[in-house]
Amino acid sequence: MQIKVQSVIDLKGKIEVPGDKSISHRGVMFGAIAEGTTEIHNFLMGEDCLSTIACFRQMGIDIDVEDEKVIVQGKGLYGLQEADNVLDVGNSGTTTRLMIGILAGQKFNSVINGDASIRKRPMGRVTKPLKLMGAQIMGREEDTKAPLAIKGGNLKPFEYNSPVASAQVKSAIILAGLYTEGFTKVTEPEKSRDHTERMLKAFGAELEVEGLSVTVKGGGKLTGQKIEVPGDISSAAFFLVAGAIIPGAEVLVENVGINPTRDGVIEVLKNMGADIELTNLREATGEPVADILVRGSKLKGTKIAGDLIPRLIDEIPVLAVAAAIAQGETIIADAEELKVKESNRITAVVTELKRFGVDIVEQPDGMIIRGGNPLKGGAVCESYHDHRIAMSMIIAGLAAQGETIINNSECINISFPGFMELVERLKR
Ligand code: S3P
Repeated sequence: MQIKVQSVIDLKGKIEVPGDKSISHRGVMFGAIAEGTTEIHNFLMGEDCLSTIACFRQMGIDIDVEDEKVIVQGKGLYGLQEADNVLDVGNSGTTTRLMIGILAGQKFNSVINGDASIRKRPMGRVTKPLKLMGAQIMGREEDTKAPLAIKGGNLKPFEYNSPVASAQVKSAIILAGLYTEGFTKVTEPEKSRDHTERMLKAFGAELEVEGLSVTVKGGGKLTGQKIEVPGDISSAAFFLVAGAIIPGAEVLVENVGINPTRDGVIEVLKNMGADIELTNLREATGEPVADILVRGSKLKGTKIAGDLIPRLIDEIPVLAVAAAIAQGETIIADAEELKVKESNRITAVVTELKRFGVDIVEQPDGMIIRGGNPLKGGAVCESYHDHRIAMSMIIAGLAAQGETIINNSECINISFPGFMELVERLKR
């Protein structure tokens, strides 16, 4: 699908973005291995989270979907059944890595596969530690690429120093740790998103967080919960940037999760001089939530690096659009992880923003953007079948002169069904 975007004069209004992707996935997975019913409200009906539902249904879990409410009939830690076919994760890295952690603890065999992007993504970061815990995992490229075959069971407690700050790696090991008799500890180099820790505790897991380490006790049980999923800050980010870069814009995004391990985008936009206000601060199922008001203002360049990176990893493509508009230089560094997302997001962002005439240079761990020139119209952009690249270029298109075309943009449905309707609603 091709999307044509026209330059906007103004953006005004109040919106809500769909539920958080990370929290929606976890709600289904933890609900499936808990005892009793888990009720998830404001679930993200994006393709990634629907892949998680489909996989757990294949393993014998009853999951009812009504509008944005999902009801999971949990069967306990050992209630999953061997699937009679390959578990298809689609485009979803979170489904793949967290589910491998759970499958490593099962006494049956599973095969996981996904789309072309998933088959390129590094799975050794979870298969290697899980094999050390006792799981048998086989796959392409020395068991590091999907399709992967997993024979679980007989896991041993484990202490792991992860070389990457990745919530997917941390979560896979914590989940496998639930299937051991003892304590499993994961330490990461920087703090990644902590939704697993928060939610597993609510489900009754014995879990302790100390600085960059998480320790979980195996052999307990989880109990089904009621979960209210906040709006996804990674989806809100497109509108926060749009509101910040369009002169005179005023956009209120209501009900956004502002977990401190995810809120780097707000910090960076504020550093760039954006006019952002958080109101109505509250909590929903152990996660902080707020309404975020952003008004158009003059932005300046900034540096995005170090331990900020895991707090905004998915927002870097759209922050690069803000940097292209901002006066002066923006340096994005320490972000090699971008290369192994749904696409190589360093190359994708640099290539696509060049089409708007942006002065941008690719770096091995990020990019340097010299912003402040008007974005040229007439760009024909590629999505690389990566939802966040497609949406970032649409936001760039709103600020560019004339018309911008984005090819292969159906991938937006991976994380943000209804994105274009919200863009249209705010346009003036
Ligand atoms: C996610 C963790 C991050 C993020 C992804 C969702 C999660 O990936 O980029 O979109 O839900 O745990 P990594 O763990 O690979 O950094």
